[in-house]
Amino acid sequence: MSSVFDELMEEIKTFLREFHSSRELHEARMRFLGRTGKLTALYKRMKEIPPEERPAFGQRINALKEEIEARFASIEQDLRARELSERLASERIDVTMPGRRRAQGTLHPVTRVRNMLIDVFAGMGFEVFEGPEIENDYYNFTALNTPADHPARDMQDTFYLADGLLLRTQTSAGQIRLMEKKKPPIKMLSPGRVFRSDDDATHSPMFHQMEGLVVDKNITLCDLQGMLDEFARVIFGKGSKTRLRPSYFPFTEPSVEVDVSCHACGGTGCALCKGTGWIEVLGAGMVNRRVLENCGIDPDEYSGFAFGMGIERIAMLKYGINNIKLLTENDVRFLAQFKD
Ligand code: DAH
Repeated sequence: MSSVFDELMEEIKTFLREFHSSRELHEARMRFLGRTGKLTALYKRMKEIPPEERPAFGQRINALKEEIEARFASIEQDLRARELSERLASERIDVTMPGRRRAQGTLHPVTRVRNMLIDVFAGMGFEVFEGPEIENDYYNFTALNTPADHPARDMQDTFYLADGLLLRTQTSAGQIRLMEKKKPPIKMLSPGRVFRSDDDATHSPMFHQMEGLVVDKNITLCDLQGMLDEFARVIFGKGSKTRLRPSYFPFTEPSVEVDVSCHACGGTGCALCKGTGWIEVLGAGMVNRRVLENCGIDPDEYSGFAFGMGIERIAMLKYGINNIKLLTENDVRFLAQFKD
């Protein structure tokens, strides 16, 4: 009988080679210790043994069982440890690796300049007021001292709609709408889209303007220039200066064209400023008495100034953009350059 034990032990020894997985180990264990396993079979042979030998036989089986179990347990421990370290190695995360960046959008240059302008003037107490894009003739022209037969109408190529309506050609229309509602003191900023039948590298049928209007007692051109100097410094750099040149707009008297010293050459003359050292950036002037009267404001008591600028033009000058179409094509390669 003892040869049975020796054989079994021998078989186990050859069997206990390396196991590659817990599953293989489990199958091996079942082969010996399972319900139909070899050791279990020995227990079943107990009844073939003469009763006096049974205790000794039982002891040997138990001893063998313990030994087998101990071996399996230690193999299992090694296997588990190996499996765990393999798993840890394969699932390792390198926390020092850089994360994946999400592409982030940027503000459109027109929006950026618009926001900068609002910041500058809001800082001086201006309120934002937005008028409608579809206007009637009265607000866009007549009330701004540009009646039907006025030659200044030809300065702007207007898109006319049905029933006396038109697409506003200038945010100046908002001045009238505001002054009808609000009486001085007024400090208004009016950004918005305007439309003109005009189309080349620097003109587009739709573009944006920023209108400014101040009406109060004792307002002069000096107030205008002081505020525009601040605007020029914020948009074009600290050393920027402004210069006023006489001009004509029906809704202002006197009217001026405002130049800013060239930010590319500092005023010495370059290609951008065509050698003059100055760049024209906006139109302005003292609000015409007729315009104040049209809105029920007494021009003997109050005076005001107004200005209007093209936001695309400012953006093109500031960022060195040479074609206005780049601002409407929405090419991401172009737009992505305008980061903080
Ligand atoms: N509305 C004018 C334009 O579109 C710009 C302008 C000039 C606005 C003088 C004003 C101003 O308020 O006072 O060309």
